[in-house]
Amino acid sequence: MYRTHHCGALNLTNQGQKVKLSGWVKITREHGGMIFIDLRDRYGITQLVFDMNRNKDLCEKAKKLAREFVIQIEGEVIERINKNPEMATGDIEILVDKLDILSKSEIPPFTIEDKSDGGEELRMKYRYLDIRRNPVRKALELRHRFTKEVRNYLDSKQFIEVETPVLINSSPEGARDFLVPSRLNQGQFYALPQSPQLFKQLLMVAGLDKYFQIVKCFRDEDFRADRQPEFTQIDCEMSFVEQNDILETFEGFAKHIFKSLKNMEFEGSFPRITYEDAMNLYGSDKPDIRFGMKIHELNNLVKGKGFKVFDDAEYVGGICAENCSEYTRKQLDALIDFVKKPQIGAQGLVYVKYNTDGSLKSSVDKFYPEEELKKWAEAFNAKPGDLLLVISGKKTQSQKALNELRLEMGNQLGLRNHEVFAPLWVVDFPLLEWDEENKRFHAMHHPFTSPKLEDIALIDTDPGKVRANAYDFVINGVEVGGGSIRIHQEELQQKMFGLLGFTPEQAQAQFGYLLDAFKFGPPPHGGVAFGLDRWVAMFFGSSSIRDVIAFPKNNAGRDIMIDAPSQISQEQLNDLGISIKPLK
Ligand code: AMO
Repeated sequence: MYRTHHCGALNLTNQGQKVKLSGWVKITREHGGMIFIDLRDRYGITQLVFDMNRNKDLCEKAKKLAREFVIQIEGEVIERINKNPEMATGDIEILVDKLDILSKSEIPPFTIEDKSDGGEELRMKYRYLDIRRNPVRKALELRHRFTKEVRNYLDSKQFIEVETPVLINSSPEGARDFLVPSRLNQGQFYALPQSPQLFKQLLMVAGLDKYFQIVKCFRDEDFRADRQPEFTQIDCEMSFVEQNDILETFEGFAKHIFKSLKNMEFEGSFPRITYEDAMNLYGSDKPDIRFGMKIHELNNLVKGKGFKVFDDAEYVGGICAENCSEYTRKQLDALIDFVKKPQIGAQGLVYVKYNTDGSLKSSVDKFYPEEELKKWAEAFNAKPGDLLLVISGKKTQSQKALNELRLEMGNQLGLRNHEVFAPLWVVDFPLLEWDEENKRFHAMHHPFTSPKLEDIALIDTDPGKVRANAYDFVINGVEVGGGSIRIHQEELQQKMFGLLGFTPEQAQAQFGYLLDAFKFGPPPHGGVAFGLDRWVAMFFGSSSIRDVIAFPKNNAGRDIMIDAPSQISQEQLNDLGISIKPLK
């Protein structure tokens, strides 16, 4: 037996007991003829004492221990003189009378402390050492509790978890596929699923009624803090449902997750806002509604006063930052630089200070006398002490820039507290998205998303205006989930493929099995998928999903611990019938 207790278990109630412990040496120190060692395992830290006067040989052995050695000890639980109230085991220590070294350790490349001295890349290379640190282990523990609650809740609502294949054909979720060459079918490739979308629909045709799966998905897309090439979805699908049934079911689910993991309750339903309103009021389809500062359009107020920038603009709009009229020239210049960054893309920023004495001062005083500015202030419901920030240009681009500016002001004003959660549904997404470069429509969600019945007539006349039965679940400005009601009629599905530029042959070649299945009584169905990594990261108070993934990839898509991706041998290439072009 390696241990009678773990390293977080003992306290004064165990005083006088003989115990065995095993774990890692966190730190050793000598003090007045005694050697003290902090012994660590997953559950905590226990202080060990070796007394020179009792057992000299044992002490000599203990002196040879270094950080991260794995040891086993036997000894007696005694009361500590210098107690440490910060530690669960801080009232006791173990007076050791037997020590075995189970394995040795080289000096670790970074300190295994809550605040480590190792950079992120180094910690990723030695991720198994990083996971020995409390914050990383805690993230994995939270993730475990999260998935456990997901399963508990969905099981209680009669969802069944079904695994779907990983070696499949291309699945259309909008990113590039990861491909796997087939040895037995040379020249042919599997694709890794971007999501189990089509399989879950087939499971509805199969009559399973309520499906879920905690499932790895693979997407070859550009990196961001909230994206990994392999990530995990809580993927769900239901039969005989309309949009409202799905939103209600998964609102119950989300409330259960909030309650069980954060002990938070929400009164009433989560807000639902349309895509159009989200864009107009927040400039984003994933608004952070922890704070107000909504966008107001000003076109009617500002045009025709001789200010060419506004006169020529398709759109003029702004936000009102409360109690910011005292912003200095330097702070305002910094905001102007912020909105002009290429990734934000505004041409400039006009500001109006609504001073506490009631006067109004703007950067465009020449064109807009105080009485005009007053009208702007009224449009925002501004009060003395506020600061108006206005952007103009193309509509979509300006709204996007206002969204970024709003979030930046939210940060500056401390309105984006990690411990406050503001969930909502964004509904009525457009069915189609116009791709200016290729002059064609793309499905905004995916090609199986059903249009709103009342908009079906528009498909032939004004496809860009058709709204979909598609929805996203958003918390604090993060798209945590998304889904839709599916098309279940073969003719409508064919029509949708036509709109998206697939010939009937192409549609048959790529999705023939779904269309075939739809010939055998598909029920009306719909579903949703949540990004597990994003949701856990948010609950963990982390802005990067890497923090909640045991073995994540870096920004270049590499696993630097196992050094993947890597070259493969000529023999493997021969087996697959693949030759690699020399790199340019
Ligand atoms: P969607 O593409 O919106 O929908 O994905 C669902 C959720 O998955 C998360 N997510 C990601 N998380 C980490 N890294 C990524 N690269 C990544 N991509 C997406 C997001 C997102 O909201 N089959 C549909 C769902 C459905 O229609 O039922 C789908 O996959 O949180």
